[in-house]
Parts: sequence; structure tokens; C-alpha cells
Amino acid sequence: MPIKRKRAWDLPDSAATDAAAFYNRREFARLFAAGSVAAATAAVPFANPAEAAEAVGPPANDPTKGIYPFERNGAYTLERPLSTEKLVSTYNNYYEFGSSKTIWQEAREMPVRPWTVEIDGMVEQEKTVDIDDLIKRMPLEERLYRHRCVEAWSINVPWSGFPMAALVDFARPLSSAKYVRMETFLDKDVASGQRASWYPWPYVEGLTIEEATNELAFLVTGAYGHPLPQQNGAPLRLAVPWKYGFKSAKGLVRFSFTDQKPLTFWHEVQGNEYGFWANVNPEVDHPRWSQATEKFLQSTDDIGFAASPKEVPTQKFNGYGEQVAHLYKGLEDKYGVKLWR
Ligand code: MTE
Repeated sequence: MPIKRKRAWDLPDSAATDAAAFYNRREFARLFAAGSVAAATAAVPFANPAEAAEAVGPPANDPTKGIYPFERNGAYTLERPLSTEKLVSTYNNYYEFGSSKTIWQEAREMPVRPWTVEIDGMVEQEKTVDIDDLIKRMPLEERLYRHRCVEAWSINVPWSGFPMAALVDFARPLSSAKYVRMETFLDKDVASGQRASWYPWPYVEGLTIEEATNELAFLVTGAYGHPLPQQNGAPLRLAVPWKYGFKSAKGLVRFSFTDQKPLTFWHEVQGNEYGFWANVNPEVDHPRWSQATEKFLQSTDDIGFAASPKEVPTQKFNGYGEQVAHLYKGLEDKYGVKLWR
């Protein structure tokens, strides 16, 4: 359990709205009576309650809707307000549905049940687990995380989910495994972007075992106190907030343990621009733009041609150096991880 670090910029309690009031606890009791779900008592502060009401929320038939919100882990705090749910649910990167930011309508058509997750490769025993069985087994919590896209915009999001370390524990990898390779769903019928043959589908991402078991690596099942909408990666996505956003793969269906560094989607598409490590680093520019600053997107007022979002300095490891810098000590020369690539 991480140590709680209270900081001067913690959101004041006056900024909080009790999201618990919106969600049905009886459904939770019925579905998860035998589970080990954390008490659902979190309060979710919305940066702008009017926009929260207009957000494009969870899939209508998500069977876990009654278990949210999860108790917030107070160790992870933000220096700026949360981005609005409307912004986060309508301004997305999800190339499976196209390369524009407005894919949410098409993504909403994607079925998220039934959904199974494969665990294979260098593990004691390969297995397939149903997403709802997996969620029941995991220690659930809410975390407020920064998200910094390689395109130099950022958002602050309340994710719900469980530490990736718990999944690694459940998978029982062999000691010879060095990496976790993650794979996204493949279904050209529902995801029109996957019909674009110039991309190497499915989307693949990877972490070292040390990164995957770092306290910050989080597997996300929900946001803003309810199940994740498809456009944000339902029913399961990664959040690794010290890395550029493309590492946080959505729509996950497979975790493979391996001793080979995975060839990741964007590295395969454009290896000189998108690497395996992708740690946020303001000192190393993208070949086509600066990474020194970012546009912080708080609400939908901050997007579009007329918008002038707040430009803020980018922090090394996106401000999470305290938790992750040690992972890269001594590896810098070997792997060149000083470079974001
Ligand atoms: N995962 C998949 N499967 N496909 C994608 O195109 N885009 C990535 C990441 N995960 C992407 C993905 C990028 S570039 C970013 S910035 C984030 O998702 C965006 O997450 P959001 O839309 O929930 O803000």
C-alpha cells in the first residue's frame, strides 16, 4: 500500500461531489456478494458539474455498474483540477476506430460482453479468465492520475481499477519472464480503423516486469465513478502515467509473459518516433515537435480552433519520478532510457 502524501495542491473537499449517490449499491451486492471489492464510498470531484451531466458514460449493459465508485487511494494527488468527464469521454485517441479525436460514437457500438482475457507465455499455467471473474478477484480502488499524450496535450482523470501488480501475481509468471506483452482486441466488423491494412493490428504494448509491478501501473475498468466507456478502452485498459499516453493500451484481451522485448504497435509503425520506453521527458523533443510543455485540457472549452488551453511545463516522468525514477537507474546507458524513445 503506498504511503499517503498530502500536498498543498490537493483538491479541497469543497470541490467534491458525492458520486456514490448516483450508483446502485444493491446491484453491487447481488453481483459481487462473494467478492473482495473495496468499500464503495469515494467522492469524485468534477471540475465542472455542468459538463459532467453531458458526459458520454458507460455502456448501457455493463453488468458491473453497481460496484462503482471504488474507494479512492489518497496517495495520488493532482496539482490541477480533474478534466471534465465530457471532455475525457468525447476527445479520444483510439486508432481502431479511426485517427480523429471524435471516434466516440463509433466506439459506443462495440460490445464489451462477453469478454475474456488470455494469460499466456512464460507462466506456471496459461489461462483464460472472464473479465467479470477477474474484476471480482482484484483489489479495486480509484486513483486520480495525470495523462500526458505524446501529442503534447494532457488531462487529469479519476480512473477506477486495480494495480497491475495484482494481475501479475494472479498470472504467476516464471522467474525467466522479463516483459509483459499486452494485446488489444481484433474485430474488423466493429472497429473500422482495423480495416486499414497499413497498420499492424492488433495494437500491442509492453512493459518490463519491474514496470508492470511498480505501484503506479494500473489496470483500468472504470472512470468518473462508473464503468469505463468503450471510447476510453472498456472493459480493460492500462494506465501508466509516467509514460506517454500511447503506452496505456485500451481494449485489452491478452497478457503474454516473455523474455523478449515486445515489438509495440507504434514502434512498428514509426520506430524513429515512438519507442518501447516512452517515458515522459521534457528534455527530449519528439522529432517533429517540442515536449517541453503541454496543453492542459480541462473541459471542452479547451479544444477546437478558437480554444486557448493553458500551456504548462511538462515534468520529467510526468511528475511521477519519486515512484519510478529508480527503475531506470543503471539502465540508462544500456537501453538509452534517458531518451523518451
Ligand atoms: N489503445 C489502443 N488500443 N488504440 C489506440 O489508438 N491510443 C493511445 C492510448 N491507448 C490508443 C490506445 C493514445 S495515443 C492515447 S493518448 C490514449 O490511449 C488516449 O486515451 P483516452 O482516449 O482515454 O484519453
